[in-house]
Amino acid sequence: MSVHAAPTSAHEASAPRRPLSIHDLAAAKARGEKFVMLTAYDYLSAQILDDAGIPVILVGDSLGMVMLGYDSTVPVTLDEMLHHTRAVSRGAPNAIVVGDLPFGTYQAGPEQALASAMRMLKEAGANAVKIEGGGPMVEVTRTLVRTGIPVMGHLGLTPQSVNQVGGFKVQGREEAAVEEMIADAIALEEAGAFAIVLECVPSEVGRRVTEAVTVPTIGIGAGADTDAQVLVWHDVLGLTTGRLPRFVKPYLNLRSQITDAVKAFSTEVRDAEYPGPEHRYG
Ligand code: KIV
Repeated sequence: MSVHAAPTSAHEASAPRRPLSIHDLAAAKARGEKFVMLTAYDYLSAQILDDAGIPVILVGDSLGMVMLGYDSTVPVTLDEMLHHTRAVSRGAPNAIVVGDLPFGTYQAGPEQALASAMRMLKEAGANAVKIEGGGPMVEVTRTLVRTGIPVMGHLGLTPQSVNQVGGFKVQGREEAAVEEMIADAIALEEAGAFAIVLECVPSEVGRRVTEAVTVPTIGIGAGADTDAQVLVWHDVLGLTTGRLPRFVKPYLNLRSQITDAVKAFSTEVRDAEYPGPEHRYG
């Protein structure tokens, strides 16, 4: 059966679903089966994604920009992440829920990372954590994994380093940077990471990193050759405004539909059409 748990046959539809684990993702890669990860930040969205059979739900620190109105992910706190991850965990009993560790809650080293990651699993019900970067994050990954905490890595554009990088820019344009990224990916795999997000890199780099490791790579703006794709839920729904990154494909235009709906409600109230007799108690 596909890692995407939405039934594809009558037989599958009658079989009870079981919660997925990180091992199902490794098996999907071994079968050459691509899969999807989507972000969610609340209970209702998580329920919709879980019911649709989305195997991995990321409570990304992108929630700082999408839900909380910050201009980067840097200000996001662990308490904010825990609050939203708890809601997502309640809504998604079958998917693998990955909680992003926000900036400043793991970079000080394995001990700090362990304390933050444990809260993510114990208090928020996440199944795994995601941390950004290679280099010193390899040891952090090793410590977490040895303690029984699954870790998703994140290379390429790492938005928590926006101040160092100087903006949300495509990474891996130079061969030396690509080689460092490949070395980091191999080191993260060796340290026990179960998957690696690759953000905003040329397609060729996405392919090279994917071929260099046996764990699934999950691309966002990393071309078509990664093992999986991730998008931000609000981008997929067409809820976000402004200039969207090239890799975003909105599958709906929900922002304008919602605007039309609230305007229709407002007009009907002003014109005394709502509530009609069918919406009133006798
Ligand atoms: O925070 C986030 O949503 C992410 C994804 C873009 C991978 O890290």
